[in-house]
Amino acid sequence: MGFKVAIVGATGNVGREMLNILEERGFPADEVVALASRRSLGTEVSYGDKTLKVKVLDTYDFSDTDICLMSAGGSISKEWSPKIGKQGCVVIDNSSAWRYDQDVPLIVPEVNPDAISLYSRKNIIANPNCSTAQMVVALKPLHDAATIKRVVVSTYQSVSGAGKEGVDELWNQTKGIFVNDSPGPGNKFPKQIAFNVIPQIDVFMEDGSTKEEWKVMAETKKILDAKIKVTCTAVRVPVFVGHSEAVNIEFENPISPDEARDILREAPGISVIDKREPGGYATPVESVGEYDTFVSRIREDATIENGLNIWVVSDNLRKGAALNTIQIAEELIARGLVSRKAA
Ligand SMILES: NC(=O)c1ccc[n+]([C@@H]2O[C@H](COP(=O)([O-])OP(=O)(O)OC[C@H]3O[C@@H](n4cnc5c(N)ncnc54)[C@H](OP(=O)(O)O)[C@@H]3O)[C@@H](O)[C@H]2O)c1
Repeated sequence: MGFKVAIVGATGNVGREMLNILEERGFPADEVVALASRRSLGTEVSYGDKTLKVKVLDTYDFSDTDICLMSAGGSISKEWSPKIGKQGCVVIDNSSAWRYDQDVPLIVPEVNPDAISLYSRKNIIANPNCSTAQMVVALKPLHDAATIKRVVVSTYQSVSGAGKEGVDELWNQTKGIFVNDSPGPGNKFPKQIAFNVIPQIDVFMEDGSTKEEWKVMAETKKILDAKIKVTCTAVRVPVFVGHSEAVNIEFENPISPDEARDILREAPGISVIDKREPGGYATPVESVGEYDTFVSRIREDATIENGLNIWVVSDNLRKGAALNTIQIAEELIARGLVSRKAA
């Protein structure tokens, strides 16, 4: 007998990917319920060869649901996750609403699976920001080998990280330019995104950083090691799916590019594509639909002691969101931390 799973935000970019991944991985679900806002009442979404009718979150009773995969933004999660958790349903949330709460574990299963047991304090588990998730999967095995002191990361983030409206905005502006229309500033991004790059993701903070940059720093510390110094520049690029990151790492101890390559080849969730020839590296296009995070361009940074540069690419809707969420649910099940209410 399997679990009863609800997906809140099932009509969104991440929610649809969750449905695909539950099916692909043969997740032990007897029943999957698709939930969204009133706008989506009656809409249908695909789950394997089945079609699910979308139900409305506001009127759904979670008392016989075991696991809720929450992917509907921060304000919905702030309001609903505690209520759902109190009904005995474990919430795994994709928004930033709970990530920095001391009573909520922030989990990347390849990195800090043991922290998951904290979940019982609120019945909520947080999933990290997409840029953090792919970076810490690559950093963890290197940190274990040579102890990371400092990370300097520049991100190249796709528009799907801003939801379905972000995807539509890039599509419409690109089409508009081809028919000689003025693309206009759009609603989702602060400047034209088609044929452009925008060095702002989320709002500005007092010190001049953006919230996205702060999230990468704070989440890396919470998941991997609070002692690591992290600085980030987060940039939106006109790519539909797949985030890329140029990561400069300073270690406590020496580690050569060859050693790093060998370590990463053995690491869970990582594929190394690193040939020093034209095209011998991963780009976002190849990451789409994949589970693994790709690491390329592994080389020494000779300007610092014990420095390496790496290029990290992943499907932001998968490892950055839906896949990581489902891996967390699998981890809960493997550890016997969630039980079937129907049983
Ligand atoms: N995209 C990424 O790379 C990524 C990565 C990590 C985390 N996340 C997080 O994942 C969440 C979803 O992102 P997304 O990219 O899938 O966004 P999206 O494509 O804009 O989808 C948003 C989903 O939330 C639902 N929703 C909105 N208001 C609702 C309400 N009042 N009640 C119930 N459902 C409601 C929407 O339903 P309707 O269709 O009915 O409006 C839709 O299903 C966000 O918290 C985001 O920060 C995204």
